[in-house]
Amino acid sequence: MKPRSLVLGGAGFIGSHLTEALLREGHEVTVFDKIGIKRDNIAHILPDIKFIEGDFLDEHFTGTLPDGMDYVFHLVSTTLPATSNKNPVYDVTSNLAPSVHLIQACAEKKIKKFFFISSGGTVYGVPKDDLISEKHPTEPINSYAITKLSIEKFLGLYKYLHGLDYTVLRVANPYGPRQPYDKPQGVIAVFMSRILNDKPLEIWGDGNQLRDYLYIEDTIEAFLTVLKKETPSDVYNFGSSIGISVNDIINQLKDITGRDFEVIYNDTGNVGVPKNVLDSSRAKEELGWAPKTELKDGLKKTWEWFSDKLGK
Ligand SMILES: NC(=O)c1ccc[n+]([C@@H]2O[C@H](COP(=O)([O-])OP(=O)(O)OC[C@H]3O[C@@H](n4cnc5c(N)ncnc54)[C@H](O)[C@@H]3O)[C@@H](O)[C@H]2O)c1
Repeated sequence: MKPRSLVLGGAGFIGSHLTEALLREGHEVTVFDKIGIKRDNIAHILPDIKFIEGDFLDEHFTGTLPDGMDYVFHLVSTTLPATSNKNPVYDVTSNLAPSVHLIQACAEKKIKKFFFISSGGTVYGVPKDDLISEKHPTEPINSYAITKLSIEKFLGLYKYLHGLDYTVLRVANPYGPRQPYDKPQGVIAVFMSRILNDKPLEIWGDGNQLRDYLYIEDTIEAFLTVLKKETPSDVYNFGSSIGISVNDIINQLKDITGRDFEVIYNDTGNVGVPKNVLDSSRAKEELGWAPKTELKDGLKKTWEWFSDKLGK
């Protein structure tokens, strides 16, 4: 019998790529996503999946779960790092509480494994090390990250109480085709859409802040790796382990796009921590996972997709 997987947030950027990959792996896939959500990302695979439309805040869904699921992939987030501090209570009610309902339902239904995407870019807070390993202290400075960590901890609790197996993927900054470009997250997608619309690129701070970017195919390979390797109920970092500045990205985009665009430096925005680069050696040593796509190749593929989509 085919393995049965449920992908929450499967119509989104990462979720749609994951859904495609699970279908390729021979899974029967059910996607759960928002009522009225655009289905562009999964239009080509809609006949191959079951789609459940609903609201993550609706306990009727998170508390019951479709029957017969083997694997549950939780990729819904109702908030973003950049804006979550404006309303932390909303994070607790709309992210944390529904996630606990979902985890509880998964424990009751005795699914085989729960996979949760956490945030390598935010759960550690202000980095003390050049490369951040899973052992680095977690001192989040936004509500989004506190919520991610709390969900991780609840998974640990349900493992302890009910034997629910899980793996947490603390992913760096994924980028690639289908990334939303209308949100304060995903600088590469935002920049590409602005270039295609002849708008200036706005940079918060001096553009020297370093981040860790992971191409979507490598991100999806991380999911497939933890699925196939039957990882312990634990937490893994997945990143490139290379610090790239916003200015580096701008320079690469000049080469790749061949376009002359205006760059505006803005000191008033929240720049975040100066550096956040993940140490992914545990995933490499224990699971044999390593990113394969170099930034310039990933940017090229992403640019091709955006040029095609935005038709300029
Ligand atoms: N993109 C990143 O940089 C990044 C980095 C680390 C972790 N993550 C995490 O990965 C996950 C997926 O992110 P993404 O970048 O693909 O974002 P996305 O916005 O493309 O996908 C999220 C999906 O969740 C769905 N969703 C949101 N609220 C919902 C609700 N109330 N009910 C039902 N569905 C709802 C959305 O409709 C969307 O399809 C999120 O949990 C995010 O926190 C993202």
